Amino acid sequence: MTNTTLSGSDFLLVEGGKRLKGAVKISGSKNASLPIMMATLLTKEPCVVRNVPTLLDVKNAVELLELIGANVKFEDHNVFVEVKRLQNYVAPDYLVRRMRASILVAGPLLARLGKAVVGMPGGCSIGARLIDQHLKVFEKGGAFITVRNGYIHMEVEKIKPVEHTFEVITVTGTENALMFLSRCEKRSILRNTALEPEVIDLIEVLRKMGVDIEVEGRTMVIRGNPELRGFDHTVIPDRIEAGTLAVAGFITGGDVVLEGVCPEHMGSQLEKLKEAGAVIEILGLDKIRVIGNSKINPLEISTSEYPGFPTDMQAQFTVLCCIADGVSQITENIFENRFQHVNELQRMGAKINLKGRTAIVFGQDRLSGAEVFSTDLRASASLVLAGLVAEGTTVVREIHHLDRGYERLEDKLNTLGARIERITNARSTG
Ligand code: EPZ
Repeated sequence: MTNTTLSGSDFLLVEGGKRLKGAVKISGSKNASLPIMMATLLTKEPCVVRNVPTLLDVKNAVELLELIGANVKFEDHNVFVEVKRLQNYVAPDYLVRRMRASILVAGPLLARLGKAVVGMPGGCSIGARLIDQHLKVFEKGGAFITVRNGYIHMEVEKIKPVEHTFEVITVTGTENALMFLSRCEKRSILRNTALEPEVIDLIEVLRKMGVDIEVEGRTMVIRGNPELRGFDHTVIPDRIEAGTLAVAGFITGGDVVLEGVCPEHMGSQLEKLKEAGAVIEILGLDKIRVIGNSKINPLEISTSEYPGFPTDMQAQFTVLCCIADGVSQITENIFENRFQHVNELQRMGAKINLKGRTAIVFGQDRLSGAEVFSTDLRASASLVLAGLVAEGTTVVREIHHLDRGYERLEDKLNTLGARIERITNARSTG
């Protein structure tokens, strides 16, 4: 029997009670990097994407681009891509299962090649994660779509201009539609679009490539260009990583400076932190200071599309509410099952009642360290935060979820004075 060593099932040991102090640099945005990397499929010319975080999801995106025929080099947070010829137009099932955002190859492949076959992105632990809105835009643009053998088969002769109102505000749906229409010269209109900073960053790139895009409220008018240019673009900072570290600094009663951030992308989160009692100082264009104190005020949070409070920060703020002086209410409006961190927080002594999409959180002095299991990316981050303010040591398992969206979060927190150790626990099977 040969031994195969599975990839390590890393876990983190988090020691509670340390107040975070000091400065740390924030990485580039995962959710801007992924669509912008897929946009490179739209041109034969060389493209450069800078400030890209070293994450599992980015490595998956590189693997997918190479499968399709791109020549990709990823070094020191810069991705160099050249797609002279497409060899393939299939995003295989195993990759889509690893990374749902693989669906973002569909728009560019249809625009450049007229063909795309993508493994059906199943739901994930936080919800059904439908893509009906993506497909509706493609169909309106003339694509024929069939689903068989677990794959979505899409084909289009010549993309027609589209006038579409999204029934649901969807981030990757908006991104896919923009890339799908990017080479169609006639005018298209998209209404009820997403306006997340990551969507706007993709629009900046498409404009550099030669696409004419006007944004008026949630309405976008697109005039494409059949010959799109290469680009050199620096990705915006990751507002969710920044928010996660800001919450860490506040709940530990610390004093942290976050560098390389974009304060205006964090408006709703910083407002909530101030309501909770944080002192927030904006230090110039790309730096903020977050100062905690002993008292944490309870909050009322309701997630919504940007510029509302981001669903990707709900789990982290739930931890803040667990140790607030009073009762908080958190409503998750975007995904139907994004409270899986609650079970694990309750193992640490949190008092939370779930009623449908709302969590009622009864704040206490502190949590107690325990062995907890990550279920999804942001839940994983929230368990690390909980460990920082728990008595004793917390073991956070299944942190491959964390590594999908955070570049060595434990190193960043340790730079600020936390005591977190990563244990790589390579297992082997007979
Ligand atoms: C993006 O996911 C982000 N991922 C998510 O970040 C983020 O949580 C989410 O937007 C909401 O802000 C990337 O950008 C790669 P949606 P996306 O389409 O585009 C429903 C993280 O933690 N919907 O905006 O998949 C859907 O079911 C990740 O970094 C439809 O019904 O989210 C959901 O309930 C997690 N039909 C809601 O809309 C569709 O065709 C929002 O989904 C599309 C979506």
